[in-house]
Amino acid sequence: TWTMANVVEEQVERIREQVGEGRALCALSGGVDSAVAAALVQRAIGDRLTCVYVDHGLMREGETEQIERDFVAVTGVDLRVVDARDQFLGALAGVADPEEKRKIIGREFIRVFEQAALDVVGDAKEHGDTVDFLVQGTLYPDVVESGGGSGTANIKSHHNVGGLPEDLQFTLVEPLRTLFKDEVREVGLQLGLPEAMVWRQPFPGPGLGIRIVGEVTQERLYVLRKADAIVRAELTAAKLDREIWQCPVVLLADVRSVGVQGDGRTYGHPVVLRPVSSEDAMTADWTRLPYDVLARISTRITNEVEEINRVTLDVTSKPPGTIEWE
Ligand code: XMP
Repeated sequence: TWTMANVVEEQVERIREQVGEGRALCALSGGVDSAVAAALVQRAIGDRLTCVYVDHGLMREGETEQIERDFVAVTGVDLRVVDARDQFLGALAGVADPEEKRKIIGREFIRVFEQAALDVVGDAKEHGDTVDFLVQGTLYPDVVESGGGSGTANIKSHHNVGGLPEDLQFTLVEPLRTLFKDEVREVGLQLGLPEAMVWRQPFPGPGLGIRIVGEVTQERLYVLRKADAIVRAELTAAKLDREIWQCPVVLLADVRSVGVQGDGRTYGHPVVLRPVSSEDAMTADWTRLPYDVLARISTRITNEVEEINRVTLDVTSKPPGTIEWE
């Protein structure tokens, strides 16, 4: 029978055949696909795989630690974390335009990853070795989509690892090419990855950078991270994680409104909850979250996050709204 245990064994065998005695590199994004792909390749070739994680400072609470600590503990993978937080914040300073933010984050990401890749290749060379393979978490639907070529309009410039320069030529290792998302999750569980990682909802490459409407600053990231952590905790507590596609939390950083708390006037910022139901993110409907869950989220955020004095709900479908606000 075709079980996920068979899939793991089969893929491990295929990776060993493809890579032989070679070395491979993998960029971890914090997402399910790259994590599962890396874990599979690690199982196949051990420390001849090096993973690189670019910490751009735009991740949600606990996500970087999840990779640095939990993922490494489970897989034993050789991981290099590049702390590029200052570089990204610096590059984003003064920028409020969504497309410009996306382009800057994409560009800095390629820069940092490229340098990290060159370092890994250089270190290998010192030991008389080469790095010939790049691991990518391409899924079956991605393969079909890029082969279909129906030519969709570019609404937002999506950010993924790609476009490495000519002098960094790798052969791709794509162990998830035949799998659908739910199968990838099964494989992840099979490999012992943490549930929180395996069931992580889609999160955009540019991270919280496109969930702050306005300029991205350290202080604003801190505020949004706290609000987002509350939303995720409450959705998990209400067992809604697998019901909803994703729930972006958006900080309207340039908007202020008057409120009252205790016996004092407040003049804080609103956050927007954007829970959506979807099959493939191409279209989406806003999720009718239970009122009591919304109430708990609202109370907790306004009590626990000083800078936020209003919680609002986005009730727009896609189209006409996109899922993310930027
Ligand atoms: P939109 O906002 O276009 O989002 O309705 C559709 C889905 O894509 C995710 N998203 C991204 N994913 N890189 C990604 O890997 C990106 O730059 C990016 N922008 C949006 C979004 O979270 C939603 O699931």
